[in-house]
Amino acid sequence: MWHMSQSPDQIRRAARLAEASAEHARLSAEIAEHDVRYHQQDAPTITDAEYDAMRRRMDSLEARFPELVDLFARPRVGAAPSEKFAKVKHVVPMLSLGNIFQPEEVEEFVARVRKFLGLAEHAPLAITAEPKIDGLSCSLRYVKGELVQAATRGDGFEGEDVTANVRTIKEIPHKLRGNVPEICEVRGEIYMTKGDFAALNERQMQQGKPAFANPRNSAAGSLRQLDPNVTAQRPLHFFAYAWGEMNPMPSDKQHGMIEAFETFGFKVNPLTKLCHSADDLIAHWRAIEEQRASLPYDIDGVVYKVDDLDYQRRLGFVSRAPRWATAHKFAAEKATTILRDIEIQVGRTGALTPVAKLEPVTVGGVVVSNATLHNEDEIARKDIRIGDTVIVQRAGDVIPQVLGHVPEKRPADAKPYAFPHMCPACGSAAVREADAKGELDAVRRCTGGLVCPAQSIERLKHFCSRNALDIEGLGDRQIELFHSEGLVMTPADIFTLEERDRRSLKKLKDREGFGETSVRNLFAAINSRRNVAINRFIFGLGIRHVGETNAKRLARHFCTFEALRATAQAATDPTSEARAELNAIEGVGDVVAEAVAEFFAEKHNEDQLDALLKEVTPEPMEAVQTSSPVAGKTIVFTGSLEKMTREEAKAQAERLGAKVSGSVSKKTDLVVAGPGAGSKLDKATELGIEVITEDDWLARVS
Ligand code: IVH
Repeated sequence: MWHMSQSPDQIRRAARLAEASAEHARLSAEIAEHDVRYHQQDAPTITDAEYDAMRRRMDSLEARFPELVDLFARPRVGAAPSEKFAKVKHVVPMLSLGNIFQPEEVEEFVARVRKFLGLAEHAPLAITAEPKIDGLSCSLRYVKGELVQAATRGDGFEGEDVTANVRTIKEIPHKLRGNVPEICEVRGEIYMTKGDFAALNERQMQQGKPAFANPRNSAAGSLRQLDPNVTAQRPLHFFAYAWGEMNPMPSDKQHGMIEAFETFGFKVNPLTKLCHSADDLIAHWRAIEEQRASLPYDIDGVVYKVDDLDYQRRLGFVSRAPRWATAHKFAAEKATTILRDIEIQVGRTGALTPVAKLEPVTVGGVVVSNATLHNEDEIARKDIRIGDTVIVQRAGDVIPQVLGHVPEKRPADAKPYAFPHMCPACGSAAVREADAKGELDAVRRCTGGLVCPAQSIERLKHFCSRNALDIEGLGDRQIELFHSEGLVMTPADIFTLEERDRRSLKKLKDREGFGETSVRNLFAAINSRRNVAINRFIFGLGIRHVGETNAKRLARHFCTFEALRATAQAATDPTSEARAELNAIEGVGDVVAEAVAEFFAEKHNEDQLDALLKEVTPEPMEAVQTSSPVAGKTIVFTGSLEKMTREEAKAQAERLGAKVSGSVSKKTDLVVAGPGAGSKLDKATELGIEVITEDDWLARVS
């Protein structure tokens, strides 16, 4: 939204901001969905590299447009904990790490740290480098040396209580040795060795149980067992590398902490090294990479951490990752194989996704037979044809991707791939939409909408999925069955199933795969979801661009479903006040607002919603509150600061929920002025804005 008095620059920025905001919203929804798949379901669908690329894109958008940072959204690093374990709140959050890939970025990391701390050119700066273990992180709480609680990371703020399971891991002491802090929370990585993983999979297969994709998944699966006796049978290991609450601190250095953990009785990684320059770090990264294949456990990079803990404290965090640490990742593993066929999958929103069917090949220790080809343009750009020998890349433990083909190995009769213009599931036209600038969407979509069985099945699956309505016993297989028999075609049908079954002669319990108990449990699970959190409900509707994060944003803004629906219905006209309201929600931009308006403008959707709301009640959301004294305030720092750098002050203010601005205006709430403050200070005085010193500021926020 802009008005006449703005300069051309401001107008251009507003336009760019609108664009960035739409992209940001889309990315954040996608990332949230992948977080759930990765952290909660142990079943990721994209590569780590793709995930990292999305994260980096988000970070760069946020760096250019700080207004996109959602101060009220908790920075999520994983996904919410699953329901089967008791929950544990982390006193000190378990956050994530930023990623870098190139040697130049190591230099940038060191330079950034030095600049932030205001270090003189030759002032020493020690940084530790250690392998990044591909397992799952765990926080172990010891009180007076006794293990009292073990928790997974969960979403970083709240994890799962896995104490009983962790007690079965031999490398985790029940009692610490030596001079131990009264409160001692040790954090590190639980992992399984490559050899044990292979042996476990062998056993699983012999017993007709599903195999794990990789050591990380098998460690996660082994730890998150409801029965600790199962965990006890699994060979899990632990490396200590970080901490949470710790009082008193045994050292004021990162490497000192690690040494202390070793004296307490923990295993620490022998490849940890104290380095003194970017060159040192890069050399150690290379040395570790050389040993990667021969190490008994999986690693996916090297973690660098500023050694001085006072520096760490000053550097603090940017949204979800510390400024004082970063992960320098290794390149993904590759292999070549033959592309046998290209299969088109139809998703919930009608997106046609090409999947490569490959001659099975081992990539980094895992057998791969499917890989993503992304979309039509990617196939054309890489000129990938059926019969080609293709290069497959697998990073981490997610769906591998096809990078390209080997020209010399192309069969003489290979023809360019013709991407279908018809939906393989329903025969409707599949089209690529153009945006406002006439640019074609990368994705071709089926226009069949609810007529398309693939879309309606995928929508039902989404509606029942874990982070939506979470209906136990109504998994993908059951939905496909019910849909094919015409029993459940819409979400509302799920809730009338019991009543219809009661009146029917062909009862569910008599069908293959069902029995009296399972049907009773299924109906109980369905009925338990007749009241559901509004954000889950909104997410479950499967509105385009509305992932978990945006569903929460909408829920938080409107509180009730009726309010959201009324505004969305009135928002069809892009110039309406209702559309402007949707648009103005923090994190919701044009694209999301339009998708929401479109969803509610669709007659089919409205009919389905009416039917659904007769069965299900979305529970209103309570308004959120922020407690910091400067939350929501706009602050300007001016003059020179003596106790911290400008960047540090800004970061601190933002951490507390304030907005930091470069210029004083009527919207400014507070000005922190140091020596040498000039025109900004004058302007603040003129406007009657509160002005305080750096010391006042520190007192206020401490
Ligand atoms: S330090 C605040 N050190 O990587 C930073 N993390 O991407 C705390 N990880 O959740 C993490 N090896 O699961 C750290 N040597 C190491 C690590 C490591 C593996 C994992 C850990 C963390 C994730 C962050």
